[in-house]
Amino acid sequence: MTSDMEPKLLHILTMGCQMNVYDSQQMGRILAPMNYMPTSRADKANLIILNTCCIREKAEHKVYSWLGRLAQVKHRRPDVIIGVGGCVAQQEGYRILKRAPHVDMVFGTFAIGRLAELVRQVTEQKKRVVDVDETGTVEPSYIMPAKYEAGSATAFVTIMSGCDNFCTYCVVPYVRGREVSRKPEGILEEVGCLVANGIREVTLLGQNVNSYGLKNGHGLDFPALLDAVNRIKGLKRLRFTTSHPKDLSDRLIVAFGRLEKLAPHIHLPVQSGSDRILRRMNRGYTKDYYLARIEKLRKARPDIAITSDIIVGFPGEEEVDFEKTIGLVSSVRFDNLFTFKYSDRPSTPACRFFNKVPEEIKRERLARLLELQKEITLDKHRTMVGTTQEVLVEGSSKKRGDQMTGRTPCGKVVNLSNGAACVGQVVSVKIAEALFHSLLGDPIVFRNAVMSSSRQAQCGVKRRNAVCCTKW
Ligand code: 5AD
Ligand code: SF4
Repeated sequence: MTSDMEPKLLHILTMGCQMNVYDSQQMGRILAPMNYMPTSRADKANLIILNTCCIREKAEHKVYSWLGRLAQVKHRRPDVIIGVGGCVAQQEGYRILKRAPHVDMVFGTFAIGRLAELVRQVTEQKKRVVDVDETGTVEPSYIMPAKYEAGSATAFVTIMSGCDNFCTYCVVPYVRGREVSRKPEGILEEVGCLVANGIREVTLLGQNVNSYGLKNGHGLDFPALLDAVNRIKGLKRLRFTTSHPKDLSDRLIVAFGRLEKLAPHIHLPVQSGSDRILRRMNRGYTKDYYLARIEKLRKARPDIAITSDIIVGFPGEEEVDFEKTIGLVSSVRFDNLFTFKYSDRPSTPACRFFNKVPEEIKRERLARLLELQKEITLDKHRTMVGTTQEVLVEGSSKKRGDQMTGRTPCGKVVNLSNGAACVGQVVSVKIAEALFHSLLGDPIVFRNAVMSSSRQAQCGVKRRNAVCCTKW
């Protein structure tokens, strides 16, 4: 029998959106008092958790292929505990235990707060457990550790869970339940604690942050919450996602021009440029309404970056509907676009709609849309060449370990061509090259601005020519 005090290793595989990333962090914090330390090595872990996503069919297929790989791990090391959490766990429940005999624990999106108890049941009572109860609280059930996971400059903070919008294609309301907002005090305390531990940028998360607080009556709505977070000393940048166009209020738009820490970027999913399809999707706005919101945002904050989501091949989408989407993308000129082929999701109304679009047409429309967006994104990136951008350094580049990487206020990824920079620094960077996914820039080295050796050691940097931060 293992005790809570024995040191053990925890490996979490996170799929899907930023909310899942936040949930995985929450799991780590909940299990830390049971002496589970994080590891990036699944082959060494005592407990492996697969935090799943089912927003699109492709994401769900990935879960089952991961479960196949984990069967081999269990075969080699029968003592390892395997848990499946998140949206697929919520949806599939006992079916996962049946289909995957190597899984010990299935816990849904409402059960994260009960994770420690579930792990105890598996380790101490040698039980296979399932918890897909739809009860639980949106408030995190851990005590924020005094020392936050070191080495990060940015963090997510979930401010609400669930969704009440019932877009006809979307599974979220069925797997994450109705919308519930966290209390503002807990959110402010969490952000304050993150900042005290070195976090410079916080992204507030919710399926529709615009309706934060409206149902629960906590006394603050979303623009007021932004005001309060903006006042937290030491925080450099504030972001949020996602905003539903139908609820994007004038007060929130004005906040972009008013709050100095609020980064000039909004993710505003439009989904389609055809009013007929928007109606069938139950989105609650028209193309013209969306365009008018964009105009207002750009008036309030001329440098604002706007990104969006689009689904191609929604049931009944004709060529003329798709052309309207192309027209909208050409006229808005988004900074970036996340494009998806429609996929049937169980329980959603759209999966029972007639006139499904054939796969090859979806593929062809997706390719046309991507081609157009590629041109627009590259065009926008090219206009940035020669400009100086304030880049918050987030870590080393995934592709090139010798380069540091960070983001501009607009959220564009910039890889730094030379010089060492610390995670958490804001560095002035001259943009030298525009690529589709990122920009390449040279940090501006000030005379005598070589970082002190003690500072380099503090940052874990051992390089000559270190670039000093321009400001914190
Ligand atoms: N099929 C394809 N894309 C979907 N999305 C949500 N549900 C589906 C679906 N059934 C996309 C939407 C949403 C993003 C997170 O995922 O564009 O904004
Ligand atoms: Fe899904 Fe629509 Fe809610 Fe977004 S707003 S989570 S697309 S139901």
